[in-house]
Amino acid sequence: MIKEIKPGVFTVGAVHWDRRLFDELIPLPDGTSYNAYLIKGKDKNVLIDTVDPDKEDELFSNLKMIGVDKIDYIISNHAEQDHSGTLPKLLSLHPEAKIITNSKCKDFLSELLLLPDEKFHVVNDGESFSIGNKTFEFILAPWVHWPETMLTYLKEDKILFSCDMFGSHMATSETFVTDEARVYESAKRYYAEIMMPFRSNIQGHMEKIGKLKIDIIAPSHGPVYDRPEFICNAYRDWISDDVKNIVVLPYVSMHHSTKKMVDHLIDALAGRGIVVKPFNLTVTDIGQLAISIVDAATIVLATPTVLTGPHPSAVYAAYLVNALKPKTRFLSVIGSFGWGGRTVDIISEILKNVKAEMLDPVIIKGYPKEDDFKTLDALAERIMKKHKEMKIL
Ligand code: FEO
Repeated sequence: MIKEIKPGVFTVGAVHWDRRLFDELIPLPDGTSYNAYLIKGKDKNVLIDTVDPDKEDELFSNLKMIGVDKIDYIISNHAEQDHSGTLPKLLSLHPEAKIITNSKCKDFLSELLLLPDEKFHVVNDGESFSIGNKTFEFILAPWVHWPETMLTYLKEDKILFSCDMFGSHMATSETFVTDEARVYESAKRYYAEIMMPFRSNIQGHMEKIGKLKIDIIAPSHGPVYDRPEFICNAYRDWISDDVKNIVVLPYVSMHHSTKKMVDHLIDALAGRGIVVKPFNLTVTDIGQLAISIVDAATIVLATPTVLTGPHPSAVYAAYLVNALKPKTRFLSVIGSFGWGGRTVDIISEILKNVKAEMLDPVIIKGYPKEDDFKTLDALAERIMKKHKEMKIL
């Protein structure tokens, strides 16, 4: 989709309206886009990133439509194939083009796409590259979300090409953000699924970015921000150490015993002024679960014991939470068993990356009885006290 976002700076990427899964893992309820940008200099053309190979024809057609028949440089901010995968074809069509990237990204591109050394011009952190009337500054931003990622700042136009950072998996015909509430949700989903494990790295990158004068943030996915403070403020909130008065309650139940416990705990927490977000793991969109743990103070995982351990759906959820490393402060486990097992030990072991206090689990035999409901009330009371101590309730 083509749009001139500043004089001589064009969007030339592709919208993937009907893609529904990324990395064979991440649901894309709103599709996605692979943003590429073409900068026309006085006598040189620079392309920033490419598109997923599935959409290469759109990129080539867009370049043709804006009259680009020669590409001199391709800045590669990130080696993941949704942005780099079209490089081999592009280089075959434009053999004169050189790829500008950092040395780590060059290594990845060489390994993943089998590109020869002579195609690269390697730059370092803080280095600039000029094509006369346009100057590009490179900011290395490792672990956003790969170790080779960099951001590119176009000095004269004050545009930050931020790669995956600030991105959103969102297919839209609008170049710029118009509905901030909708983009907020989509960008938070993206942050939760892709960026959250690297929260501390992003804190450092935000400090670097804070020193730039930015008119436009042009990410690699989703709409472009012409009000950069909107997404910067959202990121500052997500990467901060602050948590909210929320209990996330992923659950699975086979014969309603665990479900009965979940229902009771929801009421017990809500009655104490705590926001509860339950997710039935057999039907939930894992993206919604990921969004909810960005800033929840507490996660309580509810699972029956199957044979000798947690239900496989609960194992999957625990594994996902552990991989995403949320800033959650408190954890607990509830559920029902028939004849014993190691459910709590197994879940605790899986969740070891989550640096949170484990509140006494409530694991009961069979269908819950009066005493069991009292124990659940005690867990709700404990969570309420913890949230109050943190002054979030
Ligand atoms: Fe959009 Fe990490 O690639």
